[in-house]
Amino acid sequence: MKTVSSDVTAIELRGLVKDFSVGLRGVKLRAVDDFSLRVPAGQVFGLLGPNGSGKSTTIKIILGLLEPTAGRCSVFGVPSAQVEARVDVGYLPESPYFYRHLSGRELVRFYARICGLGGATLAPRVAEVIDWVGLTEAADRLVGTYSKGMLQRIGLAQALVHDPRLVILDEPTSGVDPVGAAAISELILQLKAQGKTVLITSHLLTQIEDICDRVAILDRGRLILEGAVCDLVGRAERQALIVEKLSPSELQELRGWLGLRGRTLEAVAAPRARLDQIFLERVGRGEAKSPEGGG
Ligand SMILES: Nc1ncnc2c1ncn2[C@@H]1O[C@H](COP(=O)(O)OP(=O)(O)OP(=O)(O)O)[C@@H](O)[C@H]1O
Ligand SMILES: [Mg+2]
Repeated sequence: MKTVSSDVTAIELRGLVKDFSVGLRGVKLRAVDDFSLRVPAGQVFGLLGPNGSGKSTTIKIILGLLEPTAGRCSVFGVPSAQVEARVDVGYLPESPYFYRHLSGRELVRFYARICGLGGATLAPRVAEVIDWVGLTEAADRLVGTYSKGMLQRIGLAQALVHDPRLVILDEPTSGVDPVGAAAISELILQLKAQGKTVLITSHLLTQIEDICDRVAILDRGRLILEGAVCDLVGRAERQALIVEKLSPSELQELRGWLGLRGRTLEAVAAPRARLDQIFLERVGRGEAKSPEGGG
């Protein structure tokens, strides 16, 4: 296992700007606007923002697929424009388009070869990543028959097959059910445990909160907030206690007890379970366990 400390920088953006010209008149549309960011190595970093805020455009610049209008971008210190910057990067695009007439295994093998893998290690490595994303039973079916969740999983296998240091996942849970989304979260945390850096975009903010170390929020191409998730959502000066329901007189007594200590009871509420928790408790079946189920 490679070990990395967070003083190593995985991605650095400095004053990044990206303009597109749109329409017949070539009107300028600024998709990314003076965006500076440092993504520390070994962390899970969430890039958030509304639709059209510039997340995918930023990712394409990081990958060297788009050239910025202004500013600089580097991956582990190598400018994104250089091919070497991409060698150690795995990428799951948003709405991935895969060859429908290959089996899952053939597809992952195809990408592995593009990444320079070959020889005796190729087949076991392909089988290993397919197993890791839970698609072993469906590996020899045509990709054209896969459900959305299975497509995202095979996309993840493709992104991970060459064991990259940096994994960029553009909406990996888009269209995936809660069981599948939880499995993808688990995979991302395993990547982090292996010392990898993960940059993820998602509109599932509960998932982002659960797995990310840091987040950045973009709005109309501009960075509006960046920080450690625990600092952004944590309220270290507050505590919630959960007890069996108290009678009005007991509650009154508790208020008195707190009052004597100079404290106040700020809120009394019945705790609510999150709908995703209920879903996960009741639906213990993941797609990976029954890939034939439902079609
Ligand atoms: N190739 C392109 N040509 C013209 N405009 C583009 C191009 N790619 C993106 N844009 C525009 O740039 C802006 C940012 O798009 P981008 O895809 O980066 O947003 P996003 O944050 O990834 O959104 P979503 O959450 O919907 O995926 C949008 O207004 C989009 O229409
Ligand atoms: Mg996008």
